[in-house]
Amino acid sequence: MTVDARLLARCELTYEFAAQQLRRLIETHPDRFPMYTVQGKWMHEGEAWTNWCEGFLGGQLWLLHEHTGNAYWRERAEHYSRLIEHRKTDRTVHDLGFLFWSTWKRWYDLTGDPAIEQVVIDAGRTLSLRFKERGRYLRSFVADESLFIDIMMNVGIIFYAAQRTNDPALLRIATEHCLTTRKRLVRGDGSTAHEGLFDLVTGEFIRQSTHQGWRDDSSWARGLCWALYGFGTVYGFTHDARYLQTAELCANFYIEHTPAHGVPPNDWDEPDPALPYESSAAAIAASGLLNLARLTGDPARSLHYRSYALRILETLTGPEFLAIDTPGWEGILKHGMYHQRKGLGVDESVMWGEYFFLEAVGKVLHGG
Ligand code: GLY
Repeated sequence: MTVDARLLARCELTYEFAAQQLRRLIETHPDRFPMYTVQGKWMHEGEAWTNWCEGFLGGQLWLLHEHTGNAYWRERAEHYSRLIEHRKTDRTVHDLGFLFWSTWKRWYDLTGDPAIEQVVIDAGRTLSLRFKERGRYLRSFVADESLFIDIMMNVGIIFYAAQRTNDPALLRIATEHCLTTRKRLVRGDGSTAHEGLFDLVTGEFIRQSTHQGWRDDSSWARGLCWALYGFGTVYGFTHDARYLQTAELCANFYIEHTPAHGVPPNDWDEPDPALPYESSAAAIAASGLLNLARLTGDPARSLHYRSYALRILETLTGPEFLAIDTPGWEGILKHGMYHQRKGLGVDESVMWGEYFFLEAVGKVLHGG
């Protein structure tokens, strides 16, 4: 499917603008890892809640290098990757896929250097240590009894480590986690719960819950996008049709429930949402749908996912979302949302939104 010239021009402009914004950020505030803006500014005293975003800045620098071939971006990307290397043994978060897939894995893909790959494998092994045999899931950062839908974006690094080291124990952990998530957090209509709670003694599933969504039984948009993208990724690793089916179920929910412009609110079930947009969810969906277009075996569905992803990007590269016409705004993509209940990053630029937005735009420009 060809992309029309107008969208291609907007995608090029997005990368030019991103280069400008990112260069200013890393030169003005070297070696800092902001997570979300406050009134468009990256530096503030707002809390992080959890430290899961430190790969997305380096990840964008790698994307800029891939797009431009420019040595400046490569040197900075390597530097920002090195700054997080110690996190490969971090057992306090469930986010090592976010941290290392966006940075060290991109670096490895470019070089084929086994020492760089080892860092990715080490991170995968560390993540696998979160596995709870009773309940069969990787525990979230919050508590032993807690499973998050977000972990679907991280479990891929365990599949990767399992395959590269031929380790059946790692493969079992990754597989069990995905099947538990599919059974407990993905509903029959393709919507998803943010969190599942388990009995630690028996491993019995107790109930669905949420931190960032509207209600325990509602549909937090970003969580569904993590599932859409994450189940697609694990299908790519395993070719297990159950994962593709789940990714497509989530994709269909997204497409059916989102306004024509392609950007959902923070939660599809929030009545008359005060803020209409969660642009980071849309960016993740666009990138995940471009993956699904490649993964699905059905040509009609492939076309459907790709054209919907392009529709999202048409919206996100437009004046309402791209910050290019907003003087003083330091981010790239406006109208993202981090944690509505805690009042963190509400209607702001968010670092993962920037990353997945550039990733999706890069796929349009370069294929993939
Ligand atoms: N903690 C992951 C997210 O906010 O989506």
